[in-house]
Amino acid sequence: MQTVRLGRTGLDVSVAGLGCGGHSRLGMAKGRDVHHAADIVKYALDLGITLIDTARAYGTEEAVGIGVKGRRDQVVVSTKAWVGRGGEMMSAAQMAESLDGSLKRLGMDHVDLFFLHGVTPDQYPHARDVLVPELKRLRTAGKLRFIAISEQFGGDTSHKMLGQALPDDLFDVAMVGFNLLNPSARERVFPLTQKHDVGTLIMFAVRESLSHPDKLRAVVAELLDRGEVDPKLVDRNRPLLFLRNAPGSPSLMEAAYRFCRYEPGAQVVLTGTGDPEHLRDNVESILGPKLPRDVLERLGAMFGKVDSVSGN
Ligand SMILES: NC(=O)c1ccc[n+]([C@@H]2O[C@H](COP(=O)([O-])OP(=O)(O)OC[C@H]3O[C@@H](n4cnc5c(N)ncnc54)[C@H](OP(=O)(O)O)[C@@H]3O)[C@@H](O)[C@H]2O)c1
Repeated sequence: MQTVRLGRTGLDVSVAGLGCGGHSRLGMAKGRDVHHAADIVKYALDLGITLIDTARAYGTEEAVGIGVKGRRDQVVVSTKAWVGRGGEMMSAAQMAESLDGSLKRLGMDHVDLFFLHGVTPDQYPHARDVLVPELKRLRTAGKLRFIAISEQFGGDTSHKMLGQALPDDLFDVAMVGFNLLNPSARERVFPLTQKHDVGTLIMFAVRESLSHPDKLRAVVAELLDRGEVDPKLVDRNRPLLFLRNAPGSPSLMEAAYRFCRYEPGAQVVLTGTGDPEHLRDNVESILGPKLPRDVLERLGAMFGKVDSVSGN
């Protein structure tokens, strides 16, 4: 496994991270039980993954706790709490309670990274003014090591929230949406994370659009219909078929993970799955070589300016 320094946290972590949320939630979204989910976590550790990302909202904290038992000191564990839901903001006391609940479900006395989860541009001022001071207090109390923030990429595809938050320099780690269909973090986020030495976890590397060909066609059709990509460069029916002619003929998924892995500023690429074979393949992809320059140039010409889709 290759490792990387996670920004100013100084933590040395695997370049592949296990995401315990997304559409799979370690298989629990498809009806698998907590023991199956915990086995995925154990398998991730066996493969050399040392960063595991969960959240209160995913319902996978207990599985993570079971999965890392006995190996806690080998792994960086992150969890998260929403900043608000349905217009109601989380108070500082509720945030502290949420972290206590997470620690209980994880069976741990602290987490390494604690994320404010899916923060929208509207929520950010509350996060900054009310919740960050509370997180600093919880850090002093030893319940978390580093304060982190994730964006709501599904709705904030052009990174408005992180554009506000990163210059404030309050966060040690940011979770960023980035993929070959919307690489806008390259200009909007990574220069800021690099300037402030903020660690980055990449989400949405594949999601649904790059794991299901019909969903890919639908997203590409949307972009073509809105005039956001050039029809002379993007084939509506088979937009990424040209990958087959690249050296090693990477699959769509493999290309999608390798695309993220080598982006300057991208540190850990998260992969979310409930299937051990997918996990093994995805780790192999993330550890594969950089995509050839002509492939990257072609993807750049096709989607380099897109900032309106998440690939969800
Ligand atoms: N705002 C936030 O904080 C936020 C939002 C979203 C995600 N996240 C984090 O980011 C992590 C990564 O999530 P993501 O959804 O972006 O993950 P992803 O790796 O981009 O996509 C995962 C999806 O692709 C499928 N898949 C994975 N490997 C596959 C393979 N080899 N072949 C076919 N299908 C495959 C999975 O289904 P299978 O189970 O069938 O493999 C799953 O539906 C999450 O788990 C979570 O930890 C955070």
